[in-house]
Amino acid sequence: MVTSRSARILVASNRGPVSFQEADDGTLTSRRGGGGLVTGLSAIGSDEAAVWVCAALSDADRRAAAQAPQGRLDAAGHDTGGQAVRMLDIDRETFHQAYNGVANSTLWFVHHLLYDTPVSPAFDHAFTQEWASYLRYNEAFASSLAAEAAEGAAVLVQDYHLALAPRLLRERRPDLRIGHFSHTPWAPAEYYRMLPDEVARDVLTGMLGADRAAFLTRRWADAFVDCCRVVLGATVERPAGGDLTVVHQGRTTRVGVHGLGADAEFLRERAHRPDVGSRLRALREEVGDRRTIVRVDRTELSKNIVRGLLAYRHLLRTRPQWRGKVVHVAFAYPSRHDLAVYREYTAAVRRIADEINEEFGDDTWQPLLVHVNDDFPRSLAAYRMADVALVNPIRDGMNLVAKEIPIVSDAGCALVLSREAGAAAELAADALLVNPYDVVQTAEALHRALTMPAAERAERSRRLAAAGAALPPQRWFLDQLAALTGDAPG
Ligand code: G6P
Repeated sequence: MVTSRSARILVASNRGPVSFQEADDGTLTSRRGGGGLVTGLSAIGSDEAAVWVCAALSDADRRAAAQAPQGRLDAAGHDTGGQAVRMLDIDRETFHQAYNGVANSTLWFVHHLLYDTPVSPAFDHAFTQEWASYLRYNEAFASSLAAEAAEGAAVLVQDYHLALAPRLLRERRPDLRIGHFSHTPWAPAEYYRMLPDEVARDVLTGMLGADRAAFLTRRWADAFVDCCRVVLGATVERPAGGDLTVVHQGRTTRVGVHGLGADAEFLRERAHRPDVGSRLRALREEVGDRRTIVRVDRTELSKNIVRGLLAYRHLLRTRPQWRGKVVHVAFAYPSRHDLAVYREYTAAVRRIADEINEEFGDDTWQPLLVHVNDDFPRSLAAYRMADVALVNPIRDGMNLVAKEIPIVSDAGCALVLSREAGAAAELAADALLVNPYDVVQTAEALHRALTMPAAERAERSRRLAAAGAALPPQRWFLDQLAALTGDAPG
């Protein structure tokens, strides 16, 4: 039943739990996505009073949203896993400018330190228009949430796509308890300040419209409050034992930290199903009895895949004993191909991979196996085979792959991990930490990982798996909710 002002718990995120494809004959089929948020939200089950508000991301999504009563996919009979889902049909150009322009090409770049500063960013007239679209996109969410939320409801707004929504929602519904969660890193103040002044202020005051803004690690929370101090002149307080608070224009926002871990139970079960088994056999055939270095990423600029490949090349050049003895399984799945810079990055990954195979490969040994098409069971098969996991992002909010591989690997793996990933704060004791820009150091860490005695590797891997499983997504979600509503953690 679709009712308004009846939801007690609301989640808002750009990408929702369901996406649609349109067949040639026009029929729509839905697909349920994975990821931490989807799993986390499953903690509240199919509570009728919980609603997830998300955006239509494609034309097929738009059609599905337009056909559903008030955008409610569940009410239209689509499989949403029992979840009440409202998909917002935001016009294509507004969405494009907000998502590709502001969220992915600007805020994502700022928080991951991705700009090539002599040439970009350049905040010109086109950006001004994109920013106006970003405001409209956030308003669409705020209006929908305001229409749907019951008196005093809890609203959990997710990520940099929706930085303005907390304030816009508070203007519409001051009675609500509003939380914002950032899944990304947060930029240091000197870097953040490259945003146009008004934009830098609006993003911060938008998020401070929440009662509570939360981050994956203390480091990102500290960077956020530092930006509030430097850019807004806000007052930051650190009460002993409590959340940090930011006081600005008479409002107080608490700033919290909730780490997110892997769903170990699900992964272990999923990794032993027959579809993973058949892919494992095929991969083993290709790798033979050689050692395996595994990486699995979206082909995302922040994941630093190119430097990872350069480190592998350096390893093979400087440590010839590994030639013919190791295979690097590198899965780099498509991401954000609407943006030219992502397409170019994908091409660079392929080019360097080809160069490495040409330089070292022969009839009996292919040093690098690259796959660019997403295949979850094949990723799990690679996880199971990993002797070494390579996770070297330039910067990452958390990075769940670093937690997942030790959980799934059959014999235990050594983890080479960027010190700039949020996960490093939790895994530092047993990972081999590297500076992601330092190709030589990364190559040396790969060598150390490959030569680690089996017993040490298994022991470290066991501890990494335990740390990686310590904060399952359901707990992450319930802790946030409890901290927002003031209830005891579930
Ligand atoms: C990663 C980040 C999230 C972000 C998501 C968006 O998972 O950790 O912070 O929301 O990417 O990806 P998308 O493919 O929807 O642009």
